Amino acid sequence: MKQRDQWGTRLGFILAAVGSAIGLGNIWRFPYMVYENGGGAFLIPYFVAVFTAGIPLLILEFGVGQKYAGSTPVTFRALKEKWGWIGWWQVLVSFIIACYYVVIIGWAISYFLFSFNQGWGSDTGAFFFNDYLHISSAPMKLGGIQMHILIPVTLVWLTCWGVIVCGVKRGIETANKVFMPMLFVMVLLIMSKAITMPGAVDGLTWLFKPDFSKLGDIKVWTAAYGQIFYSLSVGFAIMITYSSYLPKDSDINNNAFMTAFINCGFSMLAGIMIFSVLGYMAAQKGVPIQEVVRAGVGLAFVTIPQAINFMPGSAFIGALFFLSLIFAGTSSMISICEACIAGILEGFSISRKAATTIFCIVGYLLSIIFTTGSGLYVLDIVDHFVMNYAVLLGGVIEVALLSWFFNLESIREHVNKHSDFLVGQWWTLCMKFFTTFAVIYMLVLKFKDDLQSPYEGYPTEALGTYGWAVVAVLPIAALVLTKYDSLGKREG
Ligand code: ALA
Repeated sequence: MKQRDQWGTRLGFILAAVGSAIGLGNIWRFPYMVYENGGGAFLIPYFVAVFTAGIPLLILEFGVGQKYAGSTPVTFRALKEKWGWIGWWQVLVSFIIACYYVVIIGWAISYFLFSFNQGWGSDTGAFFFNDYLHISSAPMKLGGIQMHILIPVTLVWLTCWGVIVCGVKRGIETANKVFMPMLFVMVLLIMSKAITMPGAVDGLTWLFKPDFSKLGDIKVWTAAYGQIFYSLSVGFAIMITYSSYLPKDSDINNNAFMTAFINCGFSMLAGIMIFSVLGYMAAQKGVPIQEVVRAGVGLAFVTIPQAINFMPGSAFIGALFFLSLIFAGTSSMISICEACIAGILEGFSISRKAATTIFCIVGYLLSIIFTTGSGLYVLDIVDHFVMNYAVLLGGVIEVALLSWFFNLESIREHVNKHSDFLVGQWWTLCMKFFTTFAVIYMLVLKFKDDLQSPYEGYPTEALGTYGWAVVAVLPIAALVLTKYDSLGKREG
């Protein structure tokens, strides 16, 4: 049998895991989360979530991935014969995420080019929605495919194909060894410039000013847990896949702590960078910072370009900002694709090249819907439902099954075998209780919210088609894949 791929060095693995964790979530989601959920006080639930869910889950996923040395469906099957479908579910979740994540990187490529002459003009909102996206009037009205969006999207798919086809060590490890150091340098450069600008300190004061009263609000706590799942890429097949390429004597616990700490450190840097820029812009416009703060797409493609317009050396700062989005996004995108490709190549016993090609072509075709006039709406709805239900549900089923229906102690013994420092009973407690119940509680809250009021006021038809239907199809498709994969046949 062909030797399984492995990372070349420990650093290579850490950079790849960090490359997966650090993504759009750190740059545009984290700063806004802090701001919205109690400023500095949010860091308390955030770090509680890091220690009770993030790191324990990373240890779990690194542990089982490395122990069973297989893609996610293979790993779950090895844990228990009947659990293969959870692996496929997580792979499918990653597949859906890949189809829209790629489009945001495509936008960032366009904006990187616009940044040289501030091609987005002075009304950055009108430019983004009307001139760039050609946004349609409703989610169900697709409008045409926007070729100027499809072209950069094609480029990202080709890049991912090119990197992944080269294998784990030569492709993914090398790409992350280039992307990650450059990303840190770029963000540090923007940050060092931004914090010296007038108004930056006000921005930071807003960001970190603690509002401890928010700690009584359960939603703030669930927001912290949600952010950690998303940001550490746990629950959607990635970390299990990446750690399956680790050698047998790897230090699991240390690797998990390092990945989490570097990811959180980067989030802090991103927060400081974004809020210094927003503080500066608010000062230039003479308005309070609340008026300029936004999250997600609006932050990256409307507010930041507007802030860049005000800055001295705007072309340089703009190019750096969008390049950092591209690098952070692409390294995460590669990990999302690899999680699926590993599943396909092992699940159907085909070559890496064939699996990568099939995956990229199917993903590419599906991602076209996000490049149409209604792409932003569809993306928003799919992201909301997939992140809030499919990822969390897949994650909590994983944790609950392993905690309650598997010998969790055997995994603890395994992760401690070659680790510098050992994890104690706290890890088991976190898995069995904190993570499981925190996530179940979150799911119930989200579900209640979505039933009470339609997400963002979108029409029911659109929410049903792009949201509920997608979430419902995933477990069914997972069962079908489990039935037709060649994993059982190979053993039998
Ligand atoms: N962890 C990746 C992100 O934060 C998915 O974007």
